[in-house]
Amino acid sequence: MKINEFKLERYFAIYEFTAKYLLSPSDCESLTLEELVKRADDDSLGLWNNLKLGYTESMGHPILRKEITKLYHNIKEENVMSFVPEEGIFVTMHAMLEEGDHVIVVDPIYQSLAEISKSLGCSITNWRIEEKDHEWKLDIDFLEKNIQDNTKMIIINFPHNPTGYLPTREEFDRIVEIAKKHDVFLFSDEMYWLLEHNEKDRLPSVADIYEKGISLFGLSKTFSLPGLRLGWIITQDDVLMKELAVLKDYTTICGSAPSEILGIMALRQKEAIVKTNIERVRENRTAAKEFFNRHKDLFTWIEPKAGSIAFLKLNDKLKVEEFCDRVVKEKNIMILPGEVFDYEGNYFRIGLGREDFKVILSELEEYIVEHF
Ligand SMILES: Cc1ncc(COP(=O)(O)O)c(C=O)c1O
Repeated sequence: MKINEFKLERYFAIYEFTAKYLLSPSDCESLTLEELVKRADDDSLGLWNNLKLGYTESMGHPILRKEITKLYHNIKEENVMSFVPEEGIFVTMHAMLEEGDHVIVVDPIYQSLAEISKSLGCSITNWRIEEKDHEWKLDIDFLEKNIQDNTKMIIINFPHNPTGYLPTREEFDRIVEIAKKHDVFLFSDEMYWLLEHNEKDRLPSVADIYEKGISLFGLSKTFSLPGLRLGWIITQDDVLMKELAVLKDYTTICGSAPSEILGIMALRQKEAIVKTNIERVRENRTAAKEFFNRHKDLFTWIEPKAGSIAFLKLNDKLKVEEFCDRVVKEKNIMILPGEVFDYEGNYFRIGLGREDFKVILSELEEYIVEHF
């Protein structure tokens, strides 16, 4: 298999564990094992203490899958299969797509959501999220106009990485309607679900409301547990579920036993974990807005509506790649340039979910005041 390198992941591979300050991670502050176990209910503590480190069920632990169904309305245990989140993308695309298929994908996008279909020989139409008057916008009419006879799948990601864009409920319903009308699969990466800055903006999960919808969610962002490597694909399409099972036997076969039990614990603590994260994201968003507006000559603040990230513009003659390179080399602050998303326009991503966010902003301020 030939595939282009994953630019974002290669950038993180250089700096994630070497730079002193990370301004751009997309996950929320990770929980410690102690924090998670301390708040666990008796039942999941029992599962943890008596855990045998054997192989697990390929679809995922039955109790885990039951807990997952509680997040949705129409999803049953047989509609859920556990995956490492990134593996869920890889396996689903391989199960569903082949040379000659056409795919419409939101752009910019977490690269694997477009790259895997490209590597399989699909033709791709990029459906671009654009900045208009300091807001991110997506033209829904574009989708309708670009469906072709061989369009197999539409790929969306809301709340969106990297912009924090979220369509309105009306826009979202139109997307689902268009997919239904043309009988096209709708793959929805929902990794930042439940992190809407206003709860009333929350959208339903695609797999819950459309029989050809496929949703990805997991514990890496919203639940502060990326190290568990635990996520899931849900779909009401039984044939697809069988195809996913066939391919999973060639990737991980089954999930990690400790992660599954810790995942059960986390899902049972959903309210508390999400509340802490959303409060932190809102607080960091306010600090970011003040900071970037204070340096208006250098940056354009574009307000995210959901998720733990924002995508901003550097208003300087300096290219954003060079800016990020200088900041990490001279001040030890890692900032992710928009170039890793192949998105032109001097944008960069920041992460709003971490505890040290404001400390990093003040370090960045020192640097900016001195150099710009
Ligand atoms: C939109 C999106 N989908 C999927 C993933 C993959 O999640 P994980 O790294 O937990 O496998 C990420 C990670 O950054 C993401 O941002």
